[in-house]
Amino acid sequence: MKFLSNKQSNVLMLILAFIGLNAILLNSCTASEKITSKSGAQLWGENCQRCHNTPSPATFSPEKWETVGMHMQSRALLTETEKEKIVEFLKQ
Ligand code: HEC
Repeated sequence: MKFLSNKQSNVLMLILAFIGLNAILLNSCTASEKITSKSGAQLWGENCQRCHNTPSPATFSPEKWETVGMHMQSRALLTETEKEKIVEFLKQ
């Protein structure tokens, strides 16, 4: 790296170290992503019977499930993705 001064190559090393660190951090994120990769059926079973019996998919029409989903998302403190997965499952 003759085209770089000593100072410049120090900066370059810092940047490379930073990128490397990010790669490690991002990798640890994919491990916890496995938790969020649960299916709608799984999330439904785990979240929707905490307060009442799990409603079966046949209980409501697909349109009603959208409404119930929004309502119960706030009750069950679900993320948007979790809610969508559960509603997708219940609409089947
Ligand atoms: C924190 C407690 C809690 C959780 C978790 C919860 N619910 Fe509820 N749910 C309630 C309460 C309280 C009611 C009573 C009506 C209301 O609040 O509107 C209710 C009512 C309902 C009803 C209406 C029942 C009826 O016969 O009219 C449905 C359907 C329902 N919940 C589905 C779900 C689904 C699906 C989930 C999972 C995403 C869920 N609930 C998670 C508390 C909860």
